[in-house]
Amino acid sequence: MADDTMTFEATPTMDIETQDKVESAERAAENNNVGAAISRVDGPLKVTGQARYAADFAVPNPLYAHLVISTIGKGRITGIDDQAARQVKGVREIYSHANKLDEGSAKFFAAGGQAQQSWEPFAEPDVRFYGETIGLVVAETILGAREAAAELVFQYESEDPAAVIDASGVERQEMPDKAVTKGDFDSAFEAAPVKIDSDYETAPNVHNAMELFATTAHWVGDKLTVYVPSQWVKGFQIGLAEELGIDEANIEVVCPFVGGGFGGKGSLFTWVSLIAAASRDLGRPVKLYVTREQGFTTASFRAETRQSVRLAAAEDGTFQALEHTGDELTSRADNYFVNGQDATVRMYQADAIRTGLTTVHADRQTPGFMRAPAETPYFFGLESAVDEIARELSMDPVELRIKNDTMIDPVDGVPYTSRSLKECFRQGGESFGWSNYTPEIGSMNEGEWMIGWGVATATYPTQMSPCTVRIHLDVSGEARLQVASHDVGTGAYTVLTQAVADELGIPVEKVRVELGDSRLPPGTIAGGSISTASNVSAIMIACERIRQRLGLERGADNDLAAAFENFGQAGIEEYAEWNPSAAKKNATKTLYNGQVMIVGGPEEDYTAFAFGAIFSEVRINRFTHEIRVPRMTGAFAAGRIMNAKTAKSQYLGGMVWGIGHALHETAEVDPRTGAYMNDNISEYLVPVNADVPNMDAIIVPEVDDKVNPAGVKGIGEIGIVGVAASIANAVHHATGTRLRRIPIRLEDLVQA
Ligand code: MOS
Repeated sequence: MADDTMTFEATPTMDIETQDKVESAERAAENNNVGAAISRVDGPLKVTGQARYAADFAVPNPLYAHLVISTIGKGRITGIDDQAARQVKGVREIYSHANKLDEGSAKFFAAGGQAQQSWEPFAEPDVRFYGETIGLVVAETILGAREAAAELVFQYESEDPAAVIDASGVERQEMPDKAVTKGDFDSAFEAAPVKIDSDYETAPNVHNAMELFATTAHWVGDKLTVYVPSQWVKGFQIGLAEELGIDEANIEVVCPFVGGGFGGKGSLFTWVSLIAAASRDLGRPVKLYVTREQGFTTASFRAETRQSVRLAAAEDGTFQALEHTGDELTSRADNYFVNGQDATVRMYQADAIRTGLTTVHADRQTPGFMRAPAETPYFFGLESAVDEIARELSMDPVELRIKNDTMIDPVDGVPYTSRSLKECFRQGGESFGWSNYTPEIGSMNEGEWMIGWGVATATYPTQMSPCTVRIHLDVSGEARLQVASHDVGTGAYTVLTQAVADELGIPVEKVRVELGDSRLPPGTIAGGSISTASNVSAIMIACERIRQRLGLERGADNDLAAAFENFGQAGIEEYAEWNPSAAKKNATKTLYNGQVMIVGGPEEDYTAFAFGAIFSEVRINRFTHEIRVPRMTGAFAAGRIMNAKTAKSQYLGGMVWGIGHALHETAEVDPRTGAYMNDNISEYLVPVNADVPNMDAIIVPEVDDKVNPAGVKGIGEIGIVGVAASIANAVHHATGTRLRRIPIRLEDLVQA
């Protein structure tokens, strides 16, 4: 372990908000930790500035690096004038394709590797997109590095890029092997009495986490320590070893805290190996801060989509045929896609189903995960379409969804492990006041405000990955959990503390959790809402072994001192591997190899998803067309809830982001150059407090003993799903204007 790896103990002052507790008979019978609304155990460290993020780690006598990014959208570098740059005080080196660093590339994560893209910067003089890393300046100071970067002149031979999804010059790649079919869609759609056929568009989104990207590399002899924001330290370690051509045992990747990940820190950034190689070359630690602007193009993003939905129903509202196809933008080299149709066609019963996927290769960076990567864009399409057909049928949109609810996966014909969608609509609707809904367009308007209500369904697959943990318990009743998983701000430190406390029958104050270091037993990537289910399932195995060896009983008032006396030692340690039943035998090996293995969602003999219902109110000013969202209620059922407070925060955070997805967020790409025109957080709009006045998330109790030993479904991503459609549907109810492109802007309403 690096000396400065952060660990911490739960504070004894934590506040248990009984009023917020999840009602779970199961929990009450045995313990009071799991499920309780315990405040974050790392909260005091965060609010007092003691939590160290990647850029906070001090290294001796560092040099500072600055990235240089391309200012053309496609072409090649024909020359570099670095004379003036090299004269800037304190400049130590300037790297580019012309004096390549000694580093190679790791495999692209979507092809089973770890890297954010399949090629390495500086490999060739080619420029593949606007904002690509083409140079690296290293100097004694940050300002020196930036000044020199500003003095650098790259000469280019420039070509016109095809940078947007509808540009001529993009390459379309159909993906027939990703298509799902059931029944005969064409005849069923043709024969159906009521149908809609609509096209939808979603915009490119950029993560823009509060914590900027940064990397520090520190070599001591042949041993390298890297501090980098990461949702996957183990994968970063393995990928980096490959890029640098060194033994992975010589690399430690440290990231105890993440200031927002959202998927944007899940794959190995291209600059990490550049910084490590530059540090090796120059014989000093090197520190890089990536600017907000550079983060728009040098990391991944959520790509734009174009979708088409055809949905047909009987007169009574029973869905008969559903087709959902999508085009998704990706880079020229990498075939990244999210294929959310795979989830949308599992949402409702229908006898005829068909999906289609086409990737559109353009001159942009490779996209990547962003919160509910597949479901967020595609549920805008599906749930808008369901609202459209509800209008055609003159049916209440809640009633229509409930009518088409199913306990059998319509694609695979297997049961859901649990599915509490009706209950989500019932509890959410009751809280929101849906019984007061009047369907006529404009019927709820007040004065100059056009008011609309909209609903949508949310879902997210219950996924898991193998996970290993190490737990130590000593005679004083103190326990330590070690696992290279992550708390990306979600509350993982807290819920894992609660799990260990309950399994060992000790108070949460006695549990210490260590995360975010590649030397720890490999855990899950913090993605796909898999962390809690996977970690808790592994914790249960390790703790059971500890209880057995010590002769402790779960849930009982054990005499620890006596147990240790009998045991004959003052401490006990157990390492455990948990492998989800749907994974291949020995899948824990993939963790050590730096491969992501995620199972769950649709499986052979069952389908596991979490469900939710989103209710939104919009108010649109009749004169200015200003769109507000004064109220939103989400109700979610996701199996066992480990902590009612952190769970609620995850739901609400997703819903807030959903408002941004519907009304604010878009990366504006100039089709002429491929440049991101609003590459800052004043022009890349996100919801602020004034945009989110009154919002509630309801935790709908659900027991699922089939999904995994922990009974946990995962809650990090579902909160954003469906929100955009619920808002667009509310806009339609208020105005009669159906907007099928997000973000919705007031000019869309003025034009309509
Ligand atoms: Mo999440 S987008 O799978 O980090």
